[in-house]
Amino acid sequence: MTEKVLIKRLLSFLKPYKKKLIFAMVSMILVSGLGSAQAYMVKPLLDEIFFKKNELMLNLLPFALILVFLFKGLFYYSYTYILDTIGQSIIKDLREKLFTHIHSLPISFFHHTPTGELISRVINDATLIQMAVSRSLIGVLKDLFQILGLLFVVFYLNWKLALMSMIFLPLGVIPVAHFGKKFRKLSTTNQQTVAKVSNILHETITGHRIVKAFGMEKYEIRRFSEMVDRLFKIIVKDIKINSLQHPLMELIGGLGVAAVIWYGGHQVISGQSTPGTFFSFLVALIMIYDPIKGVSNINSPVQQGLAAATRIFGLLDVEPEIEDKPGAIELPPLTKSIEFKNVSFSYDGETSVLKDINLDVKAGEILAIVGTSGGGKTTLVNLIPRFFEVTNGKILIDGHDLRDVTMKSLRHQLAIVSQQTILFNDTVKNNIAYGDLTRTDEEIIAAAKAAHALDFINELPNGFDTIVGESGARLSGGQQQRLSIARAILKNAPILILDEATSALDTESEREVQRALENLMKNRTTFVIAHRLSTIRNADRIIVIKDGQIAEEGSHDTLLSKNGVYTMLHQMQFDH
Ligand SMILES: Nc1ncnc2c1ncn2[C@@H]1O[C@H](COP(=O)(O)OP(=O)(O)OP(=O)(O)O)[C@@H](O)[C@H]1O
Ligand SMILES: [Mg+2]
Repeated sequence: MTEKVLIKRLLSFLKPYKKKLIFAMVSMILVSGLGSAQAYMVKPLLDEIFFKKNELMLNLLPFALILVFLFKGLFYYSYTYILDTIGQSIIKDLREKLFTHIHSLPISFFHHTPTGELISRVINDATLIQMAVSRSLIGVLKDLFQILGLLFVVFYLNWKLALMSMIFLPLGVIPVAHFGKKFRKLSTTNQQTVAKVSNILHETITGHRIVKAFGMEKYEIRRFSEMVDRLFKIIVKDIKINSLQHPLMELIGGLGVAAVIWYGGHQVISGQSTPGTFFSFLVALIMIYDPIKGVSNINSPVQQGLAAATRIFGLLDVEPEIEDKPGAIELPPLTKSIEFKNVSFSYDGETSVLKDINLDVKAGEILAIVGTSGGGKTTLVNLIPRFFEVTNGKILIDGHDLRDVTMKSLRHQLAIVSQQTILFNDTVKNNIAYGDLTRTDEEIIAAAKAAHALDFINELPNGFDTIVGESGARLSGGQQQRLSIARAILKNAPILILDEATSALDTESEREVQRALENLMKNRTTFVIAHRLSTIRNADRIIVIKDGQIAEEGSHDTLLSKNGVYTMLHQMQFDH
């Protein structure tokens, strides 16, 4: 992305605040005008009051000065207030936009983007952009107005002297241009390192138990320290450049002032100019220094902001999950069957994880999927909610290709208990009702009961209002699983996908939950994946997946008589 495109895109975030911006800008111009007036007032102060002893001026000038300060203060307040509010609005807009976008991205995106990096985008980069846009790009306008106002005063007072003092101004451009590139490069490495720091944080804090269990604290601390140390060095480099910029600018300013004193002093002594003009000139010149410094200082934040914008736009430009096809229809409730026709799938476009799957599941059927680990069972069921798109072939529900129906209507018909239970740091109640927070307490309790979760929930300190901790950390694995099952029961969808839904339960609770699930499976179409073959005895049909293919298919008894993979799996579990 070129700088021009980047800035254009950045400025588009300001569009909604156009009116406020104009108001702020007018206030800025007024502040600059009044600031310049203050410098000019030094002239009558000296010439009229001190040299000519003009009493009228003596009475008028302090009064005028108070007014100038008053109005300057008012306008200053209004523009800083407006600009900072706009800045914060930009952060808010950006964060909302990023969050919405992140949740529109395909699952595969998350497989190759570390969480810490995404968090860093939303938290840090959004702030950097705000600094660049509201503080610097707009803030610099104020400085430019102020410079213009003061230049006007300076030239008005004594244009020859003004021209002479300007000789040194172009020198100021050199350090600004020189440091610009460095800042941008530094900012990029800086943010990359910040993202890495967030990643380590995220990984080790969520995985703190494993860190402890494996005694890896020292290793993780070293890894973290190295990263923080790298960050420190980058920031020190930034500080170095930044602090060098200031004295360089000051030196150049000093040269200008020295020249003015020398030449202007001569003019006053020879009577060509008055002391008032000279001092007023000097004050204006010194006052110019601040806004010039401001202009030269925007380099670092603007470069940082541009680098942040490149990263944020990079993320925003990642294509969202395949949207609904134009003209996609609402999927009517399942009545006939779910068919896999020559379905193949590959995660990376190279190795096929599923090969030529043909499967016809009738409405109301319970299909069990078994097979060796890594065979492709989870992948197979993940194709139904379109978490991933088939690479070849198609999946049809009642004859409708999944790609021709709306994502919403499709997922509405599915209830999923996934292999990894996913709970949010919220109450038990909200975790069960996730997806439909309008459910009544009675419905939620009934679902918990059916999932055999009621007993343990009632024993929790706050019952249904207990916060379960991050990812359900305060619950046992089996309890987490029962909450996920309750969630699926509550959703009451016609198609049910259970991926190792009871794997974390003991035999006793499993039997009970199994009974609840059997109730649930009635009048539903179910895909149930289980390693424990005892849990799938009552399936209508069993398919055995091996190396991405359906190796065997049939009822429990027919499969046993085949003496194939199923028999082998069965023997491993029951013949000890
Ligand atoms: N996101 C992914 N990217 C690339 N490859 C993947 C991804 N997820 C799974 N795989 C690969 O796809 C294959 C099938 O995985 P899948 O999770 O479907 O197996 P499974 O039959 O469910 O195994 P298990 O019984 O252990 O749950 C495995 O070889 C796995 O390494
Ligand atoms: Mg699996």
